[in-house]
Formats: sequence, structure tokens, C-alpha cells
Amino acid sequence: MSLAVDLPLASPLGASASQPFEALFKARPAILAPMEDVSDAVFRALCRRRGADLCVTEFVNAEGLLRGCRTAKRKMVLEPDDRPTAIQIYGSDPARLAEAARIAEAARPAFVDINCGCWVPKIAGRGAGAGWLRNPAAMVEMAKLVVGTVSLPVTVKTRIGYGPENEMPIVDLARRLEDAGVRALTIHCRTAQMGHSGAADWSWAAKAKSVVSIPVIVNGDIKSAADAKRALDETGCDGVMIGRAAIDHPWLFGEVRQLLDHGVEQAPPTPAERLALCREHLLANVATRTETYGVKVTRRHLTGYLRGLRGAASIRKRLLFCDSLAGCLEILAEEGERLAA
Ligand SMILES: Cc1cc2nc3c(=O)[nH]c(=O)nc-3n(C[C@H](O)[C@H](O)[C@H](O)COP(=O)(O)O)c2cc1C
Repeated sequence: MSLAVDLPLASPLGASASQPFEALFKARPAILAPMEDVSDAVFRALCRRRGADLCVTEFVNAEGLLRGCRTAKRKMVLEPDDRPTAIQIYGSDPARLAEAARIAEAARPAFVDINCGCWVPKIAGRGAGAGWLRNPAAMVEMAKLVVGTVSLPVTVKTRIGYGPENEMPIVDLARRLEDAGVRALTIHCRTAQMGHSGAADWSWAAKAKSVVSIPVIVNGDIKSAADAKRALDETGCDGVMIGRAAIDHPWLFGEVRQLLDHGVEQAPPTPAERLALCREHLLANVATRTETYGVKVTRRHLTGYLRGLRGAASIRKRLLFCDSLAGCLEILAEEGERLAA
């Protein structure tokens, strides 16, 4: 595998036109997690504007991609300013995954990530996602095939085990995936059987990190800049990946950067910044989707975006009952005036 892959770059990590894969992990990046129906181009852009160093697309079904399915193809479109972004794929058939990785590569992502961590029964039960953790040897062989098929770096995102093993397979697996040519590993520090319940145990990321020389990214329950720093300090990992906390609070990426780079706590967003983010997200979602759908998909973020504002519950309620963009913008303007008064 060649290590000298030059990547187009427009990120807070550096201003140069290109950088090798390893440079992505130099500054201990704060990474936006792949999240289905969340980490789309619009959300990636707003997280990047608030400090996300690297983004990963929501997972793309390898089968859908090979069938030429429109949704799968749309998820892989990376605009020139949507960089560095990795494309994540999932599937249960090694040869089909390798073929899908080849298609993903054509979109010039920063790297191709293979999902070996999705626990939902309709995915894991069919051998894709965390289903691979039931047979680590098969996972390693699959990864080797994908690595050998594409020239971009290939990474894996997985969990500590399927559950409930006594000794989690992740440590041995990390070593074997590195031997297979995988260039970085993201570890969601729960078993597949835990889903999102219970606490993430970052000590497994530390153990895995101690046996490999590739970058390891710690993931699970990072909800604040202090959590991110603690996760990095405790594990020695090379980056943090943030999922659910970003849905409510995309400012978290900037807060992490401020704490890691300058040891300072970033001031929380002002009421005006909170309302401006609602407006920005609504406008971008409506511009890239239909008005009805664009307004609807923005709603899942409102509780977090409006948190702490005087009258947040009533602003949210007004927005939830409004289906038009113009109506939502009017509500935001009115509430902005009320809060400024
Ligand atoms: C709505 C949602 C969708 C997700 N979709 C994906 C996905 O497409 N690919 C993936 O690897 N993980 C996916 N995940 C898992 C997250 O990437 C992450 O591993 C998990 O939420 C733990 O991190 P957190 O505690 O920071 O949320 C998803 C999680 C959520 C909440």
C-alpha cells in the first residue's frame, strides 16, 4: 500500500491544498461520526464551520451502490468544499464491498471506511455492520480484500466485541486489521449487543491503541470538550469521534479544538448564534430537499440548538407546528427580537 495519498483539503487542520493521510490525525482531530439521516452534506458543512476537522458520511449500502440506487449515489456526492470527508460503506459480502469501495473511491473521499459496528438487527443480523464481529477472521479477510482493491486508504469502524464475550476481541482484532493493511481504526467502545445502552468503556480503545501503530479513534459518549480531552488522555488515541452530542450541539467541535489546542474553555453560543444556526440549518435543508422535507428533518436538532434560551420550549413548539420555511424564519426573527429586547 502506498502511504503517499494526497488529499484535497479545506479544513481547520491546515490550509495546504493537500495532505497525506497520516497528517489528518496529527492534531488529534475532532471527527463528526457517520450517522444515518444526520451526517449528510448539509450537517457536515455546519459542523465543519464550527470546528469539525474531519467528517464521515452516513453509511452507504454496498448493494444499493452496485445496483445504482439513487439514494446510495446521492450519499456519496462530495462537493469540493466538503473535505476532508471519508465515505463509509457497509455490506456482508466481501467481493461486493470491495466493488463498492472502488465506486466510493471515485468520489475522491479522504478514505473509505468500512462499517463493522452497526448493531441494528436488520443490518447485523444479515452479517453486515457489527455482524462481522461474530467472525473476526472473516472480518480481517474482508478488510484485506477491500484494502487490496482500492488505492485510497481503507479504515474500519467497529465495536469492542459482539457481546457478551469475557475478553473482548477488539485488541487482537486491531492487530490483525493493521496487518491486513487497514490504515486507521475507530472503536465505538460498546459491544454490539449493548446498542446505545450502558456506558462506553474507553479502556478498550486504550488497550487496542497500545498494540498497533495505526491511528485509533475513540468513540462513544463524548458529550463535552472535557470528555474529549479525558478520552484522549486516558486512551492515548489519535482522535475523537462525536455522534449524538453533535446533533444537539455542533459547536462542540470548536469547543474541543479550543480545549485541546489552547487549554481554554470556549464561551457557549449566544442566543443569537443559537437562532442563527436554526436559520442556517433550515435554509440549507430546504435548499437541498423539498420545503416540507427540509423543514421536517431540521426538527430533530431544535431541542439542542435552542437549549438554554429564555422560552426555549415555546419557541420549539411554535417551530414544530410550522411547515413552511417562511413561517419558520418569521418565528426565528420574532423570537430573536424578543430575546434581544
Ligand atoms: C442516528 C444515528 C445514526 C447512526 N448511523 C451510523 C452509521 O451510518 N454508521 C456508523 O458507523 N455508525 C452510525 N451510528 C453510530 C455513531 O456513529 C456512533 O458510533 C455512536 O452514536 C456512538 O457515539 P456517540 O456516543 O458520540 O453518539 C449512528 C448513531 C446514531 C445516533
